Amino acid sequence: MEFGSDNNAGTAPAILDAVVACNAGPAPSYGNDPIMDRVRESIRAIFEAPQAEVFLVATGTAANALAIASFCPPWGAVYAHEDAHAEVDECGAPEFYSGGAKIKLVPGEDGKMTPEGLARRIAATGQGDVHSVQRGMVTLTNVTEAGSVYSAGEVAAICKVAKDFGLPVHLDGARFANALVADVSTPAEMTWKAGVDVLSFGGTKNGCMGVEAVVLFDPSRTWEFALRRKRGGHLFSKHRYLSAQMDAYLEGGLWLALARHANDMAARLEAGLRALPEVAFAFPRDANIQFVTMPRRLHARAMKAGAHYYLMPHGTPLEGAPEERLLCRLVTSWATTAEEVDGFLACLRG
Ligand SMILES: Cc1ncc(COP(=O)(O)O)c(C=O)c1O
Repeated sequence: MEFGSDNNAGTAPAILDAVVACNAGPAPSYGNDPIMDRVRESIRAIFEAPQAEVFLVATGTAANALAIASFCPPWGAVYAHEDAHAEVDECGAPEFYSGGAKIKLVPGEDGKMTPEGLARRIAATGQGDVHSVQRGMVTLTNVTEAGSVYSAGEVAAICKVAKDFGLPVHLDGARFANALVADVSTPAEMTWKAGVDVLSFGGTKNGCMGVEAVVLFDPSRTWEFALRRKRGGHLFSKHRYLSAQMDAYLEGGLWLALARHANDMAARLEAGLRALPEVAFAFPRDANIQFVTMPRRLHARAMKAGAHYYLMPHGTPLEGAPEERLLCRLVTSWATTAEEVDGFLACLRG
């Protein structure tokens, strides 16, 4: 009964098979492998963006930090939701890779920035004042850290604010597939058609072993990104193993099928949780992450039965008043089974 993180799931068999298959014989190194050519073309086709440039890295943090560094000067402000992974969980990597760009936090309910909140925050930056950081770029996350999804229309509304101020937009799509299958739009509508300039396109959380694509819809930063990736130690010599993962992930729409399964399991879990009077939802669930509160008593029973998930904030004490309500983050993945979900619900029902 694993609901800790989609990072805790293994690698989807077809992707693992592709890694093994690409092992035979030599292959050109450093991204010059023929599988990478196919990946580039697949991503261009999926996003209807023939001009897009594509780079692979092995972690989401590298994807975000390198993307932000390539679009924001060291003296720039990066506007992000206050819970953004780039702010909370990347150990200052965006600031480090960009040479000091400053993240400016934008509040917003359910993990989402609002256009008004973003505009206020950008307008408050001392643009033109040598003593202040200058307006740099906007980054947003979809699926958000709260488990909600920005619709394509909402992404467009955020991008419009950025564009009105002349700023580029990065989208942290560590769970882009889960966001996409939760919405009714196309990959293009969720990204460049809405105004996104650069996307971190996640693979790892949705069944890959360790690969993320950075998609530059604005290819003007291609050379800069290539240099930054190398300088940041993220240009893999035996790159074919990254390419093979991404290739298998995209092949035949596997990425969408895996995400659909994760979201379906989340919906099954949500339906069961909503039927429990002692469980309350903290945020709306749109994709494969949900946050609920429940009494410590129930949580203790679930733990005892072998369920695994995280309490928020990290470090919430396990011992305490039985009736105290705890905030639990429950994540499903491509590997979650209906039996796991039903077993967890049965255990909560007692
Ligand atoms: C929204 C989001 N972005 C980026 C990342 C970064 O991924 P990684 O842990 O591979 O650096 C994560 C990982 O949990 C994430 O949840």
